Amino acid sequence: MIQQDPGALYPDHLAVLCRRAEQALARGGFDHLVVPSGTLHYQVFDDRDYPYAVNPQFKAWLPLTRVPNSWIVFTPGKRPAVIFHQPFDYWHVVPDAPSGWWVEHFDIHIIRTPDEALALLPPDPARCAILGEPQSALGALGAYVPNNPAPVVNYLEWHRGSKTPYEIALMRQAQVLGVRGHRAAEAAFRNGADEFSIHMAYCQAVGQDATELPYGNIVALNEHAAVLHYTELGRKAPQPLRSFLIDAGASAHGYASDITRTYAAAGHDEFAAMIEAVDAAQQTMCAAVRPGFDYKQLHVDAHLSLMGVLKDFGVIKVSPQTALETGVSAAFFPHGIGHLIGLQVHDVAGFAASDEGGRIERPAGHPYLRLTRVLEPGMVVTIEPGLYFIDMLLNEVKAAGHGDAINWERVDFFRPYGGIRIEDEVLCTDGEADNLTRPVFAAANG
Ligand code: GLY
Ligand code: MN
Ligand code: MN
Repeated sequence: MIQQDPGALYPDHLAVLCRRAEQALARGGFDHLVVPSGTLHYQVFDDRDYPYAVNPQFKAWLPLTRVPNSWIVFTPGKRPAVIFHQPFDYWHVVPDAPSGWWVEHFDIHIIRTPDEALALLPPDPARCAILGEPQSALGALGAYVPNNPAPVVNYLEWHRGSKTPYEIALMRQAQVLGVRGHRAAEAAFRNGADEFSIHMAYCQAVGQDATELPYGNIVALNEHAAVLHYTELGRKAPQPLRSFLIDAGASAHGYASDITRTYAAAGHDEFAAMIEAVDAAQQTMCAAVRPGFDYKQLHVDAHLSLMGVLKDFGVIKVSPQTALETGVSAAFFPHGIGHLIGLQVHDVAGFAASDEGGRIERPAGHPYLRLTRVLEPGMVVTIEPGLYFIDMLLNEVKAAGHGDAINWERVDFFRPYGGIRIEDEVLCTDGEADNLTRPVFAAANG
């Protein structure tokens, strides 16, 4: 897999951001775009801070994820500026002096205290679209308060749906890191490790700890795979080990990957066959990512395809269509088929009707779908079908009078495995779908 140099792609990315910012400011009637990087947040009655999370609107411009109290200022027609907070501090490691592929494109102002930014920001905050969290406010009586004007935010968030080649290059890096972790995690599972140890093996291989990863790892052995957001990290491996589901990503200069794989322990051939069937179905779904295709339809098609798998394995007795219509399929596949991904794992504007706002609602009966838009070139989406054996949801099917649709002996057989999820990132191009994840696994295997 050829890795592209993000530095060579950055000038075009920045030009796109400047054009988008100009248009967004025109929509909102502002003269300047001002974006704080965010602040440290402290725990109540304590002097400990939570892990710092950079404002996504800030890291869209710069590959900087660890410089709180900094600001970007963009005024149409001028070079963008960054106000870079590099405190005099002997308690902590201060951010390195600005370096990297972006510095030559910005006017850079170093400040030593957060308040020094005030003298460098445009003088009239009323003329500024200030995008950030309330805690970033600066100045007496909150002179500089993030106002997050909807026309500006809607415009920028909508257009973030279309990734630049620079962003795709970084997202490919995030795949490479994530797959490295996945391979280490599978090896740890095959060696009989517990969930916590598998998680540590993952972090070690990726070179990122929990504060750097884009979301909390889901490392689930056996029945734990049926808990959709299982983040417990058990310290003792269950006996016998039957199955392993891992949903874990990595960060590359602020961009995320979000990858899930499921494995059967040796000798559990029927579950292994079901994983293979879901894997094949997932690849067909990935290939459906093309411009003009409605992601809502992809989600509904996924229900039918997954119910086909359950029918083949004798778990349901009704047709996929009947399973969908009666809510049986939602008990086995109770989440959305995926979401936009980029600077945020669940990236913004998944429901946006246009760059002026508005909302495309989810189809009735699918309350957890996170993306309802028609696919466009440049979008990166996850495709993450799953099948789970969750008693709470299956009991609801029974209570609703559809218990006869299910072969309960087969449910008893598969329940100890928890479930299956397989998740890749797919880039929508002008033509064929470009799966960002699969080729990286293939290369790691080879
Ligand atoms: N890891 C969270 C998700 O797949 O959406
Ligand atoms: Mn995931
Ligand atoms: Mn996901």
